[in-house]
Parts: sequence; C-alpha cells; structure tokens
Amino acid sequence: MRRVQWFEIHDCPWCPARWRVYLQDMLSFFASAFRPYDAIADRLGEALVRSGAGRIVDLCSGAGAPAMAVQRALREHGLAIPLVLTDKYPHPDAGWERSGTGSGDLKVMEKPVDATAVPADLKGFRTLFTAFHHFTPAQARGILADATERGQGIGIFEYTERNWLVWGPALLLTPFVVWIATPLLRPVSLGRYLWTYLVPVVPFMAVWDGLVSCLRTYSPAELEVLTASLDPSGYRWAIGRVRAFGGCRVTYCLGWPERAA
Ligand SMILES: C[S@@+](CC[C@H](N)C(=O)[O-])C[C@H]1O[C@@H](n2cnc3c(N)ncnc32)[C@H](O)[C@@H]1O
Repeated sequence: MRRVQWFEIHDCPWCPARWRVYLQDMLSFFASAFRPYDAIADRLGEALVRSGAGRIVDLCSGAGAPAMAVQRALREHGLAIPLVLTDKYPHPDAGWERSGTGSGDLKVMEKPVDATAVPADLKGFRTLFTAFHHFTPAQARGILADATERGQGIGIFEYTERNWLVWGPALLLTPFVVWIATPLLRPVSLGRYLWTYLVPVVPFMAVWDGLVSCLRTYSPAELEVLTASLDPSGYRWAIGRVRAFGGCRVTYCLGWPERAA
C-alpha cells in the first residue's frame, strides 16, 4: 500500500488545545496499558551505550507515557538514563504520573520544541515515539540529517503500519476503547466527558488520526532510502521491525555516532 500524506486533526494549528490534550492522554493511556515499545528497549539501550549519550531527548512527547515507559524498561535492563520530554504543543500535564516523586531523571520542557528545528543546546539521544509519520519525506530526512550533523543519536519507533489486517479491526474498535478507557484518565474533567460522550469528538479524532497515522507510517524500506541519502561518516544505522503485543509490530530506525574506541 502506498504512503499518503493526509492530515491528522490534532496536528492542525486550528485544533482546539483541549481536544489535542484529550487525544494525547488517550495515546499515553494506550502506551501505558500495552507498553508496545518495551519490544525495542534492548535495541535502544544498546544504541544509547554505543553512542555514549548522557540523556534521552524525546521529541513529539505528547503526555509522555511511551518515553517514560521505555525509560523504566531501560532501568530494568540496568541502564538508568535521564529523560527530557518535549513537544511542539506541550501537554500541560506531561509526565504527571511522575511529578512530585522527586526523581531528578525526568525533565519536561514547557516551551514548544519543534522536531524539525531542535535547539542546538538541547543535546541528547533523540527519540520519536508514534510521531515520525507526521512528517513529509523532506521533513523526515531533515530530522535525521540534523541529528547526524549535530552528532546526536536518534531513534524512531512506530507501532502503526500500513497493514489493514493488523489495524483494520483495531480501528473499528477504537471508539469503544476510548469510551471504556475515558473514566480511567486523569485529571477528571467535565470537558473530557463532554467531548467524549455527549459530542464524540475524541473518539472521532482517535479513529481519523489513527487511520491517517497508519496510512503515512514509513516502512523499513522507506526508512532505508531516507537514511541512505545522508552523509554516512561515523554513523551507524539499524532499521527493522519487531513483534510487540497482539499482532502489532514496532517499526524502528536507530542511528548513532560510534564513539571512537
Ligand atoms: C501521535 S502523537 C504521539 C505522542 C506521544 N509520542 C505518544 O506516543 O503518546 C504526535 C505528537 O507530535 C506532536 N507534534 C506534531 N508536530 C510536531 C512537531 N513539528 N514538532 C514537535 N512535536 C510535534 C503533537 O503535538 C503530538 O503530541
């Protein structure tokens, strides 16, 4: 199936901030419940060690659960590493489950950080969970090129893919998952209930944005083409797909500068 560059509602500047937040919360709930990215924690851990990175800078974090779950999985594998959460539309409660725990290994950037223009002083191994598909091939290449030019590692991870067998049934069930999961989300708010049950904007966004996410997810072959066009000097790439929960698979693209021995 060919990749298409349709739009996602929560990506649009006109999308009301609270609708975006409700969707980001739902994605974070999904990542916490099913932990799809545990499947790539060992690969990411190896790239982190080989690059010598001192922290992870997560781009397009949303509410932050996928990156925090992976940070936890890495710690279980014996690698404790600080994490910075960032987003172009920062979530007001990103990292809330960990706020107040006093652990110094989580920082949340309150100012917007655009993944296509990462500030030069924001150093660390860059990660994008369920987000690289947002970018056109030119932007996607630019994100990869910027990481290599600044000598930072980068990891792209997507549990969506252009596969109806895997995602067709899941998308049909998505409104019911949203309706069932909403009472579990925090903070409890009248707006969340209004836009989920009375006027079902959130379930609609979850289905539409989920469908478009699948249709524009890069395949391993397309990621190979994107990385092949970059300056290869001193950089290592690992691209592939691994099984996660159920029939779902995680496509990954890891790049890191090899430390001089
Ligand atoms: C599908 S969500 C994924 C959020 C989170 N990584 C997760 O898996 O739950 C995509 C996120 O990318 C953010 N985003 C969209 N365009 C961006 C850009 N150019 N730079 C940084 N973040 C962006 C959105 O605000 C949204 O939070």
